[in-house]
Amino acid sequence: MKIFLDTANIEEIKKGVDWGIVDGVTTNPTLVSKENAVFEDRIVEICETVKGPVSAEVISTDYEGMVKEAEKLANLNPHVVVKIPMLPEGIKAVKTLSQKGIKTNVTLIFSPLQAFLAAKAGATYVSPFIGRMDDIGNTGMDIVGEIVTIFENYQFGTEVLVASVRHTEHVLEAALTGADVVTIPMVVLEKMFKHPMTDIGLERFLKDWKKYQDYMDKK
Ligand code: E4P
Repeated sequence: MKIFLDTANIEEIKKGVDWGIVDGVTTNPTLVSKENAVFEDRIVEICETVKGPVSAEVISTDYEGMVKEAEKLANLNPHVVVKIPMLPEGIKAVKTLSQKGIKTNVTLIFSPLQAFLAAKAGATYVSPFIGRMDDIGNTGMDIVGEIVTIFENYQFGTEVLVASVRHTEHVLEAALTGADVVTIPMVVLEKMFKHPMTDIGLERFLKDWKKYQDYMDKK
């Protein structure tokens, strides 16, 4: 399963890339609005930092507007994946863009049938929003399993990108369900490294090694 960072913050991306386990980045208008940066410049900077797929979202909601924006975004860098909202006009745009060889990520997916339509149109990725489904009392991960099954049944090349991740359990469930990608906020990625038994174990090893060295020095 690929790991994408869900952020437009360059310092977070540099940190994740330095660990060697980040394959790409997803952004959205909310994440970009938190940064003091020109949108297009930041997308290029992210592409040059991660050197993997970087999702950048269109703002238009009509077919012509989405295709025009998508072409501009795709021209910024070969790593750009254009994020298109799950709308009838959006699906039409995805079909056109896939025929032009422009990679797409259909965002705001809340049902397996929405994902099915996006795959039919030739989307590169679909992004089911797990945390936001949990927020309204559903079990977001359920639709991830259903999407994975549908894509396997019909051998769609579209990748399942688990989005709106709130905690490490979501990442575990995504991996167990066979999702292709999970996009993770830095705060969740950092928690994935941690286990109290690792800290206790390491402390004990270092303490015992110090005792051993003191003993050897006195010999
Ligand atoms: C990423 O592609 C999504 O836009 C993002 O994961 C949404 O996360 P949120 O529901 O925490 O805003």
